[in-house]
Amino acid sequence: MSDTVIRVENLGKKYIIGHQQQERYTALRDVIANGAKGLLKPFQSGKSKTQNNYEEFWALKDVSFEIKQGDRVGIIGRNGAGKSTLLKILSRITEPTQGRINIKGRVASLLEVGTGFHPELTGRENIFLNGAILGMSKAEIKRKFDEIVAFAEVEKFLDTPVKRYSSGMYVRLAFAVAAHLEPEILIVDEVLAVGDAGFQKKCIGKMEEVGKEGRTILFVSHNLGVVQTLCNRGFFLSQGTVQIDDMTSKVVTHYLATLESSASQNLLERTDRRGKGLLRLTAIKISTGDDYTSTTLSTGHPARFVFYVTNLRPRLSCIFTLYDQYGQPVINFNSAVRSQEDITDPHIGNAIVCELDELGLLPGRYRINVALVSDGELQDAVEGAEIVDVEQGNLRGRPVLGNTGYGNVCMYHRWVLPA
Ligand SMILES: Nc1ncnc2c1ncn2[C@@H]1O[C@H](COP(=O)(O)OP(=O)(O)OP(=O)(O)O)[C@@H](O)[C@H]1O
Ligand SMILES: [Mg+2]
Repeated sequence: MSDTVIRVENLGKKYIIGHQQQERYTALRDVIANGAKGLLKPFQSGKSKTQNNYEEFWALKDVSFEIKQGDRVGIIGRNGAGKSTLLKILSRITEPTQGRINIKGRVASLLEVGTGFHPELTGRENIFLNGAILGMSKAEIKRKFDEIVAFAEVEKFLDTPVKRYSSGMYVRLAFAVAAHLEPEILIVDEVLAVGDAGFQKKCIGKMEEVGKEGRTILFVSHNLGVVQTLCNRGFFLSQGTVQIDDMTSKVVTHYLATLESSASQNLLERTDRRGKGLLRLTAIKISTGDDYTSTTLSTGHPARFVFYVTNLRPRLSCIFTLYDQYGQPVINFNSAVRSQEDITDPHIGNAIVCELDELGLLPGRYRINVALVSDGELQDAVEGAEIVDVEQGNLRGRPVLGNTGYGNVCMYHRWVLPA
């Protein structure tokens, strides 16, 4: 009992939502995806303009758990499952509608933009402000100051108000502050979805360090690989409730299975999606063969992915990522990154097509996440939109064997051997 640092009983959070309300709340990664503008603007209020047409909505319901000192808890679940809501309540940024929370120890959290940092204050002032909020003395903060600045790589901009920071700088400083001010409990919501790969690696390293020091971590991420590396315990959240609380690997396996089952669902009926919604993904068709009549992909053969959308919009682009069965990203395609070989077809209808001459994937099962961007903003994002099975084949005459456990891509190559 004594080493319990967080106890949550029957926690619930109710929002009142209007039917007219289209605008979803803003998540940090969406703001980053949309560029730094508006980074520090207050969030959209959840209230509808039509006051009489509203509905109650439980973003969290009957959530109870205990977290022990040193637990590293990965929270996973679909878009809209309630992950950020839970972290916001634990960080005391949002009040719960019902239930009780007991927290023992200093909490530092890195949630959505705007929380913790004051836009008019400089980087330096914000570091001191955050330290003070955490209950640290000036001397303690001073001791940590250089480390924070070095980690965030913002030396030159220390005396610039953070509202002038680029989104990358902002996130770097926010993470550095949260991780270095020696919190007893570190709460991080999807920071790894933003920033470049180098910085992400640095963050994971820092969080591992914090974990090794025996501090408690609550971490939300869609990157299952990172969750598995970092966390010893997982929560699978679905529709506002904790469905599974177990070892990370078990929780991840379960989550992947649910993604798989929803991939067979009609795409338009899925509500677990993000984006502004000026257009939506309606279906994905995957085919192969000389005239794309067969639907079973195989290694080394052509592959064609057709993404159908509700309507066309200016500057429409499609980004999709294939994930392996462990939830690790394998490859990402982005139609906004152009090549001279790309074609525009006025007769294509409401569709975007991606064609590969030789599929360089080992046999196995893959999952596709899709994002559609238009009008300069994320319009639709669906996780596990489709499952792809790749059968054994060969790449330019060389047989490609099943998954050996050493990666899942293959490349055309040639050996030079001694006689
Ligand atoms: N301020 C708000 N007003 C109304 N509804 C909200 C508000 N904040 C969140 N919601 C809704 O509550 C539900 C849970 O949201 P939450 O942000 O916790 O999901 P999440 O699991 O973090 O999703 P994601 O993976 O997309 O970040 C969603 O349906 C969301 O639209
Ligand atoms: Mg969230």
